[in-house]
Amino acid sequence: MRNFINLADIDKKELRKIIDHAKLQKEKKANINNDAPLKGKTLIMIFEKPSTRTRLSFELAMKKLGGDVLVLNPKESHYGSGDESVHDTAKVLSQYGDIVMMRTSKHEHFLEFSKHLDIPIINALTGLSHPCQIVADVLTFEEVKKEPIKNKKIAWLGDGNNVAYSLIEASVKFDFHLSLACPKGYEPNKTILQWAKKNNGNVLVTKNPLEASNNADCVITDKWISMNDKNINKIKKKKALKPYQVNKKIMRCAKSSALFMHCLPASRGEEVTNEVMDGKQSAVWLEALNRMHVQKSIIQWCLK
Ligand code: CP
Ligand code: NVA
Repeated sequence: MRNFINLADIDKKELRKIIDHAKLQKEKKANINNDAPLKGKTLIMIFEKPSTRTRLSFELAMKKLGGDVLVLNPKESHYGSGDESVHDTAKVLSQYGDIVMMRTSKHEHFLEFSKHLDIPIINALTGLSHPCQIVADVLTFEEVKKEPIKNKKIAWLGDGNNVAYSLIEASVKFDFHLSLACPKGYEPNKTILQWAKKNNGNVLVTKNPLEASNNADCVITDKWISMNDKNINKIKKKKALKPYQVNKKIMRCAKSSALFMHCLPASRGEEVTNEVMDGKQSAVWLEALNRMHVQKSIIQWCLK
């Protein structure tokens, strides 16, 4: 059984297959003789936190491949109200569905849920990581640039958060150079940085946003306040992150052909200016569309 939990756990050849299959399917060069390969299959989606793109792209992906989708709203279920255990809910979902997709706050909770399931599970964002997003970002980069991401320089500016975590993993799996500029106190997860080092990753962490974006092929950022940032001093965090805004100056420091990416939702005027978001180098809408193409590929990979 194949789960899609963190990129570090998946063989690099398999991740490449997921991207290549997404590309082929998008170009209508895959599933030529079968346009409903997931007919009779059901994806159960559990969202314990809000979502626009992930929810719509998974639902569209499943429907376009001939499958069905069920949404379990934790607020309206025994599981969410705490009167049924994670174990028992997972066992029941394994009877109804063929695959589960879950978005939750605590990664440990996601792992606990996955342990009791008898069907595959996809990580649709936890406080730790967001692997589906980053696979869509790699697809988007390669689609626009028309060349592999291997050996390219990718810059991350801002919070060393869950999206940055998956990007660090991806830099090892797809062999690109990654420079992350984060302020003190908001650096990326140490364990994943150590993992990257051990696995010959080319990852630089700096406090200098100009150093990170210098000559980069792509500049990526994310909201300064994530969904998990409930009980923190938001004013303090925004103040620390202010010098890491992606603006014209930063984009001028990157290559003139550099892309700008953002997983969205964005807080325009904070981590990114309108000028960059709506500018020629921005790939944000294609990035959102590619979530669907990648979800199609991830679901099929899990169900193989
Ligand atoms: N990028 C992303 O995961 O967006 P949603 O939170 O809208 O799903
Ligand atoms: N870092 C953000 C990503 C949203 C898609 C969050 O966790 O809220």
